[in-house]
Formats: sequence, structure tokens, C-alpha cells
Amino acid sequence: MNERLPLTVANLKANKTWPEMSRWISDFIANRPQFEGTIVVCPSFPFLAAASEEIRNLIDVYRAFDLNLKLGCQDISIFEQGAYTGEVAASQLFKVCQFAIIGHSERRQNFKEDDSMLARKVERARQSSLEPIFCVQGPETSIPPQVTIVAYEPVFAIGTGLPDTPENAFTVSREIKKRGDYKVIYGGSVTSDNVHSFLQEGTVDGVLVGGKSLDPFSFIGVVKNASY
Ligand code: PGA
Repeated sequence: MNERLPLTVANLKANKTWPEMSRWISDFIANRPQFEGTIVVCPSFPFLAAASEEIRNLIDVYRAFDLNLKLGCQDISIFEQGAYTGEVAASQLFKVCQFAIIGHSERRQNFKEDDSMLARKVERARQSSLEPIFCVQGPETSIPPQVTIVAYEPVFAIGTGLPDTPENAFTVSREIKKRGDYKVIYGGSVTSDNVHSFLQEGTVDGVLVGGKSLDPFSFIGVVKNASY
């Protein structure tokens, strides 16, 4: 990943069937935007292995060798592989995906994930060569060791159509960067119209996109405008 180029992450949450996901990938690759940064798409667990295969094949078919499209998961277990019914261990995703969203506010709220659980998840991710994208809800949220990418995602902005102001995102990003050598991305109602305003100052290093990533063409619109 080029450290100076923006990172654009699609968080598809618990959406899509496999045929829809497969279509998303082919539409995205066939109509890929010009973008030098890294793009990470995060589908649901069951689709990761097939999506990885599909991306590899279609990059060949469309000769899209310039496209830096990676895969991420939306969560991982605090446990290693073993007798944990229903869980997905980070080690099971080794070489399947490269990134792991950890600590999204929907996980903190709906699944009561706390700071100590999230620190264990980061540790598990690192042990399996997954790069954590660690979500914080404000500048005061605790950030575990071994995190290098922090996603600032204020809860009021998620899925509401009411993004934070770029100025506040810059302030929060600067505060987070005072705490460590982090790449900081912004998430919360990002659209193709507002993405550039978050990146223009160069303080925010990318975006995490929910709603506007569900349709591959609207996500292409976001990626196209995701420049500093
Ligand atoms: P949103 O979601 O873009 O729909 O606000 C962002 C997120 O939850 O990561």
C-alpha cells in the first residue's frame, strides 16, 4: 500500500447475496475508475474466498493490472481456531483477505464489543497478517497497540446522510495523529459529492464508505473523486 495515496474502503455490511456480490465485483472491475490509491472492499464472510478468486480472474480478463483492489473482512473473532461455533478466526482468513475492519460502532453497540475485546482482535489480525482498520468514534476512543490505520467514524454520521464537517474531521485526525504514527481515514455518510472535501487538506488519508458502496457505480463515483 502506498502510504501517501488515499485509501478507499467499501463496507458492504450484512448486505447482498453471492450472485449480487459477484455482479458487484464484475461491474466494479469492468468500469474501474482511474485511481492510484488502494481500494478495499469488505463483503460478508461467506463471500471472501470466492470474491478473492473472482477478483484475481477478472483482473486478468479485463487486464486491469493497475487496479489496486484488495479484500477486507468486517470483523474477526477474539479467539484462535477451535471450538467456537459460529466464529471466524483471523487465521482462517490468512491469504484470503488482507484487511480487517475492527471496532465498528455497530459491533460495539449491537454486540457489546469493548476495548479489551477489540485489542485482542487487533492482536489476532496481526498474527495472521491482516491489516486492521480500527474504527474510533472520537479522538478519545482507545486505540490498541499494533494499529496503523484508524477510521474516525462519528456515530451521528453513520448511515444518516449527515456527515461530520471536513473541518472537524481534520481536527480529530490531527488529534489522533498526535497519539501515534497513524493513517487516519474518515467514515460517515461519505458520497461522491463530499469525498474530496474530506481529503483536500491532506490531513485525512482516505474514506470508509457504507451506503454509497452498495451500488458499484456509486462507489466508482466516490473513488473517482477521492483525491487530495
Ligand atoms: P455510511 O456508513 O457511509 O452509510 O454512513 C459508513 C460506515 O458505517 O462504515
